[in-house]
Amino acid sequence: MCGIVGAIGYETTTEILLKGLERLEYRGYDSAGLYINDQTGHDYLVKTVGKIATLKSAVKPTVQGSLGIAHTRWATHGQPSEANAHPQFSTSQRFYLVHNGVINNFTALKQQYLADTHFASQTDTEVLVQLIAKFVEQEQLTTLAALQKTLQLVNGSYALILVDRDQPDQLYIAKNKSPLLIGLGEQGNVVTSDALATYDLTDQYLELHDQEIAAVSADQVQLLTLQGASQTRQPITITVTDGEVSKGTYPTYMLKEIDEQPAVMRRISQKYLTAAGEPQIDPNLLTALAQADRLYFVAAGTSYHASLVGKRLFEKFTQIPVEVGVASEFGYHWPILAQHPFFIFLSQSGETADSRQVLIEAKRRGLPTLVITNVTNSTLARESDFHLDLYAGPEIAVASTKAYTAQIAVEAVLAKALGTYLKLPAAEEWSLQTQLGLAANGMETLVDNKQGWSDLANNFLGASQDAFYLGRGIDYDVSLEAALKLKEISYVHTEGFAAGELKHGTIALIEENVPVITFITEASTAGHTRGNVQEVLARGAQVLVIASEDCQQADDQIVLPQLTPELMPLLTGVCGQLLAYYATLQRGLNVDQPRNLAKSVTVE
Ligand code: F6R
Repeated sequence: MCGIVGAIGYETTTEILLKGLERLEYRGYDSAGLYINDQTGHDYLVKTVGKIATLKSAVKPTVQGSLGIAHTRWATHGQPSEANAHPQFSTSQRFYLVHNGVINNFTALKQQYLADTHFASQTDTEVLVQLIAKFVEQEQLTTLAALQKTLQLVNGSYALILVDRDQPDQLYIAKNKSPLLIGLGEQGNVVTSDALATYDLTDQYLELHDQEIAAVSADQVQLLTLQGASQTRQPITITVTDGEVSKGTYPTYMLKEIDEQPAVMRRISQKYLTAAGEPQIDPNLLTALAQADRLYFVAAGTSYHASLVGKRLFEKFTQIPVEVGVASEFGYHWPILAQHPFFIFLSQSGETADSRQVLIEAKRRGLPTLVITNVTNSTLARESDFHLDLYAGPEIAVASTKAYTAQIAVEAVLAKALGTYLKLPAAEEWSLQTQLGLAANGMETLVDNKQGWSDLANNFLGASQDAFYLGRGIDYDVSLEAALKLKEISYVHTEGFAAGELKHGTIALIEENVPVITFITEASTAGHTRGNVQEVLARGAQVLVIASEDCQQADDQIVLPQLTPELMPLLTGVCGQLLAYYATLQRGLNVDQPRNLAKSVTVE
């Protein structure tokens, strides 16, 4: 969601900014822009609606300089338009600003301080830049002081870069809630919301904490709190390799990431299990978890669906009760907690604002927290007591695939480790190494059958604008995820539901030829789900059955190797991904960057 890149001190600023924006495309955006200053009195502002390719073609060869800021915008306040795209600028055109986040009190600030100012956009961001200009131009504050004063008035989230045209050797930056990093390069410095944007320039990054400001020049960084207290901090190393961020020979990132899943399973096995198959988890984490009388999983979207699977794994192998919450709900409706709660957050990006607000409140209450994430240096990872990596490698396609299965595999490792620590026979006797190996092999067979999945998607989902996914127990959890996968990239209206709920309402929607994808991998409920299949067949639905070996019947279209039931989503999840992928491709849509969606959702 929104991306920021800034550079100072480089000769190739325009190229750095455009390349950086291209690398942030995956986060989701609808317009983009940049501001460049050559420090000899020339500056340039270019903004366009649509893809970075459009911005690139609007940037003339003359647009060169040694200071620049750039932005991809995902509209929150005001429609996607050139006027609303960033950089936003003051009426005097002295100040230029790019911003990620939301200024909650922008209307009040406008009324109180800027009643006479003419606004060129509908954005909350313009209020920031106009206020800074007002404090400099009318109250004679320095730019730094004006920025401090403005941010002290603000209620909201921000990661921002400000340029003062009269000081073209400085970038002023600030952060609250939204991520921002300063990259320390050899020739100059960069500022970015995601190290992917600038990984070829440096692997050394200074993190800004909430409510901090910095003045960044080509060879210096001055770090301050919002109140002006000087801060010092050591850089951290963030390495991203070319191979991880390029599509290679794949037509899309999503297909590459679906294909990477067997390797991710093997990597998780290597990282978290000894040669003898015993889990290796920080003993302090296990001790803290063992003291809990209830685990609270909190997450959003696909990570929420992986948390539902986590509940089943933890309750089975650790005997500790688990509650699962949607982050955006949990934060505003805290349940009555157990006596010794332990919070587990699942987040691919480690930046999701909805999850972070729950983490912050859990910390305020002094409760222990763990984050399971794919981004080691992300905000959530830094702010929790413990964190575990997914080792899935960067996930670029907006729709989460390999992070979902990696989350389930890491949950399984932790459930096994905790159950073994608690000396529970079910966990001690469970060979997770074998299960992850079987899962990797099963995934390989699935992804090798691309033509088969393309044909199934065409036959079952080709013509319909509706699709239903059903299952019971763990298969219900996967139904929710498979339905989300299809709807978010193909725009087909989908529902995932508990098969038993069918006759309590949803069956009214079943009509001739509507696709119903059914997961049947739990022997104890297979008979009932088969009954539901008959009910929809009788009403003309086209049914695709994905069953496990133990539950298979003669006409099932897909039969999967049998894993521990709670791990079947490692395979059924991939089936859902492949169906969604091909159904979307066949509709001629952009698989990697679906409309309206952002990869990293940094606003609540
Ligand atoms: C769907 C998807 C989203 C994310 C959700 C949470 O494919 O990717 O539903 O799962 O926005 O994001 P993270 O996992 O980064 O917290």
